[in-house]
This record gives sequence, structure tokens and C-alpha cells, in this order.
Amino acid sequence: MTLKPTGSVTISIDGTDRSAKAPLIPGTLGPDVADIRKLYGDLGIFTFDPGYGGTAACDSKITYIDGDNGILLHRGYPIDQLAEKSSFLEVCHLLLNGELPNAAEKEAFEKGVLRHTMVHEQLRSFYNGFRRDAHPMAVICGVVGALSAFYHDSLDINDPDHRRISAFRLIAKVPTIAAWAYKYSIGQPFVYPRNDLGYAENFLYMMNAVPAEEYKVNPVLAKAMDRILILHADHEQNASTSTVRLAGSTGANPFACIAAGIASLWGPAHGGANEAVLKMLAEIGHKDNIPDFIAKVKDKNSNVRLMGFGHRVYKNYDPRAKIMERTCHEVLTELGIKDDPMLDLAMELERIALSDEYFISKKLYPNVDFYSGIILKAMGIPVSMFTVLFAVARTVGWVSQWKEMVEDPAQRIGRPRQIYTGAPQRDYVPVEKR
Ligand code: CMC
Repeated sequence: MTLKPTGSVTISIDGTDRSAKAPLIPGTLGPDVADIRKLYGDLGIFTFDPGYGGTAACDSKITYIDGDNGILLHRGYPIDQLAEKSSFLEVCHLLLNGELPNAAEKEAFEKGVLRHTMVHEQLRSFYNGFRRDAHPMAVICGVVGALSAFYHDSLDINDPDHRRISAFRLIAKVPTIAAWAYKYSIGQPFVYPRNDLGYAENFLYMMNAVPAEEYKVNPVLAKAMDRILILHADHEQNASTSTVRLAGSTGANPFACIAAGIASLWGPAHGGANEAVLKMLAEIGHKDNIPDFIAKVKDKNSNVRLMGFGHRVYKNYDPRAKIMERTCHEVLTELGIKDDPMLDLAMELERIALSDEYFISKKLYPNVDFYSGIILKAMGIPVSMFTVLFAVARTVGWVSQWKEMVEDPAQRIGRPRQIYTGAPQRDYVPVEKR
């Protein structure tokens, strides 16, 4: 996309007469961005931004976050409206194609995606290569990567039809692959997808059904799962999305890129946090132990963090966390769980943290993962599958961001620079002289 500057920033090297102008580019929303692409040519210097906290690595039309005010928009639509009124597949259309579909487009899109839910039968044998106690994230990382060995007819990233079909394949097949990773871990037969079911409903069906019995998915839980998927669908240039973009910038195929995204999502600072929250709550065990735990979190030498709290971008309540908390109450009511000790503990922990000066001064608020684990656990999803579920939902975000990047004529391979702080050039010394 052509970016139109509306001003410039002058960067000068103190004590010299050397300076350069960096064009200042406005976005539709958010702060202006100084375009420093020519800085090295003009001044012979790089910029330094480990963790990319102040660097825009791309321009994008997909998702916008205003972290100070706790706002998340997909293609301009607020997340709470989408979570309340839309469906996951409709949000997939929105993220991938830029607009909410009309009735005919919606039907065609849903049919288009859902007819790809089955996976190549030979892919089943991949599971047998894994130990039964393998973490399901390890399994889906491998099996999703292997898709590129099966679907040769959609690997040409320069062909729009291939891009569309591989996007459909990924969105449709990842739930099947994820549910099978779970079934493999508990030694139950794989359950084939059913295209007459909704997206979230089908996922719950493949997770919970067995061939020996009829299984009907609880519609309230299917709706809650659909909402959980919407809340995780995309989140701008986070670590896993940036991983997908970086992998994709080399021209790698989308299946390989999404496998890279899954690997990046796995870490406890990112998608692994939902699993870590439940482990943390189990460790705390009782409300009486919260003050001791908070003291540990505040101790710089302990390396203990309040999982599900804090965010690189949100310096306010994560809007997804609010919807997640509401959904949590709905699910527990539907399941007849009146008192959930885990939820009580989480709410008390949140209350104490939000009134503690440490968290207030650092602007640490609950993020999307704080309540999601409690809902998923109540729905009978095992803890090891929490991050997998995040990956199922985020696949559409990754694919949309990958597609946007591939379709951008200005796109080039991602290649950050560095400050080299190692040894200066020196001559090789033979081993007997060292
Ligand atoms: N508990 C205690 N202290 C914290 C926490 C936390 N959860 N998060 C940040 N801090 C402190 C941190 O110690 C630092 O203090 P100081 O300035 O005194 O050194 C300050 O707040 C800034 O932290 P940071 O590590 O520089 O912030 P970051 O933007 O690099 O990290 C984060 C963001 C999400 C990795 C971090 O907040 C964290 O580790 N949170 C817990 C893990 C978590 O819940 N992750 C899920 C994120 S949302 C879902 C997703 O996008 O994947």
C-alpha cells in the first residue's frame, strides 16, 4: 500500500551537522509513525528497539488496539459487538476479506470453509509417531506443519485461488487436528468432523463424542465456545502473528508459516498463559494464601508473575477479559456450578491485585487469559488443550495477516539488524597456542 506522509521528523546526530528527515505517516487511528527506512542510507545509523515496543513492522488494515483505553477493533468493529452479535465464521470472513458478509456471501463462505474439515487420511498416521503423553501443542505444531506435505495443490502463494483454498483448509482443518491430538492423548478413537454442525459445535463434538454413543453438544456451551474463538481470533502484531509474517516474508507456504505461529504461541508469556493461570490458581490453593503469593509476585528476585495479568499493549482492562468474565458466569450457570472455588479464588485475586499499588502503578490489568482457563476447565476441556484452543481460534488471524502481507506489493523479506557487541575482528589462533 502507498503510505502518504503528512509531515516529517528530523533526526540529527548531536555534535555534528548531520541530520536526516524521516517522513511522518498517519494511520486511520493511533499514533503517527516515523518512516526510518532511509535512515541508514542517510546517516549510517540503525534504530534499536529490542522487543519491538516502539516499532511498526508493517501497515495493516485488519486489527486496531488502543491499549490505553482498552479498545480492540477488527476491521473497525469493536470486539464486544462482534462477541455479542456475530459468529466465529462471520468474524473469519471479516478478518480475511475486510467486510462482514451479506446473507449469500455468509452462506457461501461457511460452506466453503466447512467442506474442508476432513484431513487427508494418511495424516492420521502422523499421530502414531508421538508419545501418548506428548503435549498437544507439540503434536499440532508437527501435524499442521505436515499439511504442506499433503496439499500440494494450494501451495503457490502467488496464486489468489491457492491462497483462498489454503486459508479455508487451515481454518477448517486445525480444529480436527486439535481434537485428534486430544483423542490421541487419552487413547480414544478419532472422531470425524460433521459439516452439518456449526464450527464451535463441531469442535466440541470431535473432542467429546465417541463412536459407541450418540453425542449432542450443549448449545449454550457451543455458543460460549464460539464466543471464546471470536475473542482470540486476531490481535494485531503480537509475537505469534509477527512470527507468521516473518516466516511468510521469505515466501514459505502458509501451512509452514502457521506451524511457526503455533510454536511461537506456545510460550507462557503468550498463548501458554491460560494454562499457566490454572496452574497458578492451583498452587495458591486458597484465598488465605493470596497475600503471600502477591508478595512473591512483587519480589523482584522471585521471578514469579501474576499470570493472566499485564500486557505489552493494554495499559487498561483488556476488553476481551471483561467479556470472558461474563461468559464464565454464563457457562457456570448453565452447568449448574453454583460455587466454583477456582472462580472465587480468581475473582478475589483480581480484586486484591487491582487495589494493590504495585499493579496500579505498572498499569497491570487482567488479560484475556485470566478467566478463559476457568471457563474451559468447567466445559471439561483439559488444561493441556487450553493453548491448543487459542491456536484453533488464532489460525484465522494468522492466515489473514499472512494473506495481507503476501498481497502487499511493497512486501519484502523481514530482516532486522542488530548492535554487534561481540569481539572485534581477530585472527584464528591454532589450538596449541590458545
Ligand atoms: N506480574 C507481575 N509483574 C508484572 C507482570 C505480571 N503478570 N507483567 C508485567 N509485570 C511488571 C514487570 O516486572 C515490569 O516491572 P519493572 O518495570 O519494575 O521491571 C513491568 O511490569 C513491565 O513488564 P514487562 O515485562 O516489561 O512488560 P512486557 O510488555 O514485556 O510483558 C507480558 C507483557 C504479557 C509478557 C507480561 O505482562 C507478562 O508476563 N504477563 C503474564 C503472562 C500473561 O498473562 N501473558 C498473556 C498475555 S495476553 C494473551 C496473549 O496475547 O498471548
